[in-house]
Amino acid sequence: MLKVENLSKEFQSAGQKVVAVNQVSFEVPTGVFSVIIGKSGSGKSTLLALLGALDKPTSGSIKVDNEDIVKMGDKKLIQYRRKKIGFVFQNYNLIPNLSAVDNVILPMEFTGVSRSRRREKAAKLLAQVGITEDKFNRKPSRLSGGEQQRVAIARALANQPRLVLADEPTGNLDSATGEVIIKLLKHLAYTKDTTIIAVTHDDGIAREAKQIFHLQDGSLV
Ligand SMILES: Nc1ncnc2c1ncn2[C@@H]1O[C@H](COP(=O)(O)OP(=O)(O)O)[C@@H](O)[C@H]1O
Ligand SMILES: [Mg+2]
Repeated sequence: MLKVENLSKEFQSAGQKVVAVNQVSFEVPTGVFSVIIGKSGSGKSTLLALLGALDKPTSGSIKVDNEDIVKMGDKKLIQYRRKKIGFVFQNYNLIPNLSAVDNVILPMEFTGVSRSRRREKAAKLLAQVGITEDKFNRKPSRLSGGEQQRVAIARALANQPRLVLADEPTGNLDSATGEVIIKLLKHLAYTKDTTIIAVTHDDGIAREAKQIFHLQDGSLV
């Protein structure tokens, strides 16, 4: 489903060339939870940004369902990001003045889900990630870290993405809550027939993954 070939990303920093991602190739099938592990500065976030089309590679290809996103024009890329990708962040990045359910509804406002269906879909997703109805109308500040991350995962799934990208999704959670979130992501990959890639520097999380990619200085080892 995802096929990355010879992917590289170079930055110019203070006149110096930094190779953040260096000739990376890998494949992830649909329905698989995989993990990219590596130390700080190894290129994990850069690689994830390339996969999510938030940044352009210097060279290489990224095929999602056989379509190379590196070659897509800007208009198509916007659609790709909205419809095919879900993002989960370490800091959850929920909109603070929207309720849990409205945070999940938000991405559907850009993809043509009818107004009447949005709330119903959001409620279903929240239930699937273990958020009970009494919390649907709470603002993020009135939810625990683990609950906020569950809402963020529901939001990432709102448009049935083919690929969910999670950058250090458990970085702000205690280890027991982190484990629950990782098990949830793993379960969702399988049941929703989506591909989930999580970035981490935690070996415990990596053990839950079906595939582990180890990044070191921008290269897979
Ligand atoms: N926009 C940028 N400009 C210059 N260098 C960058 C930029 N983004 C990342 N880098 C460099 O690329 C390398 C990989 O960074 P990053 O992908 O953030 O690593 P990780 O997420 O594994 O900590 C680091 O050396 C970092 O300093
Ligand atoms: Mg990072």
